[in-house]
Amino acid sequence: MDVTQKLDPDYEKFKKNIFRLAGMCLDKYKERQMKRRITTLMNLYGINEFDEYFVLLNNDKEALQKFLDRTTINVSEFFRNPEKFAELNDSILPELIKNFRNLKIWSAGCSIGTEPYTLAMLMEEKRVSGYSILATDLDTKILEKAQEGVYTADHVKNVPPPLLKKYFEQDGDQYLIKPELKRKVRFKKQNMLEDTFERGFHLILCRNVVIYFTEEAKSKLYQGFADSLVAGGVLFIGNTERIFGADEMGLNSFSTFFYRKIVKGERV
Ligand SMILES: C[S@@+](CC[C@H](N)C(=O)[O-])C[C@H]1O[C@@H](n2cnc3c(N)ncnc32)[C@H](O)[C@@H]1O
Repeated sequence: MDVTQKLDPDYEKFKKNIFRLAGMCLDKYKERQMKRRITTLMNLYGINEFDEYFVLLNNDKEALQKFLDRTTINVSEFFRNPEKFAELNDSILPELIKNFRNLKIWSAGCSIGTEPYTLAMLMEEKRVSGYSILATDLDTKILEKAQEGVYTADHVKNVPPPLLKKYFEQDGDQYLIKPELKRKVRFKKQNMLEDTFERGFHLILCRNVVIYFTEEAKSKLYQGFADSLVAGGVLFIGNTERIFGADEMGLNSFSTFFYRKIVKGERV
């Protein structure tokens, strides 16, 4: 039976209810993929009506958390796509450090914290004082995990051994972020499709988040990032992503997956 088709008429109401309950706007996620994920979850409870599923979500915190976990997907690891982090470390960060004081960095959609802690390690290694790292995510449970900073061998597999030794405490098969590094990251709950953005960033990372967003939501989001960057600031996106119409947003693709906010009057 094609559950996706059968449930289609109730989906609009479900989306409105979810927005009221959790502040998550399902309209901005690609509908087919999202419905497939939701119906898989409903099947777990033997439910095949959106209305009935919403009643469950409204009354059962655990079911709601599972819904948020599964619909937002938070897989991550340190130094995800190591070759791009090498480029960030070897050429982009040095340039930003040279051009700006007190770098302001944002990891948007930070999941379990591996991305902002990777950034903190890179900055610490460069012995830069006076930088800040903001890490945001929609999912409060995942932010709690990020703040705990406890990881598996799989999460840390790309961390260079000297950094692993310096910034982690090993406890059996777990790797714990040392408190000194934890203090370098400020975590905050934020829905990047709804909430207002802080400004004045020199570097923004938004990687492996937008893949389920509609084209319209993506464009609005990237424009928001462009507005939040200072001129000359850099946006670093995921390895499967691309920004359409970047020039019109004031972003110049100067290297694969890296965009620079164009300084007024500069030609691309
Ligand atoms: C696959 S993880 C990416 C983690 C990290 N950026 C990386 O590349 O490894 C995607 C994260 O985006 C978050 N997310 C999804 N929709 C979001 C939204 N509207 N606002 C903020 N975070 C969102 C999810 O909760 C999830 O933790």
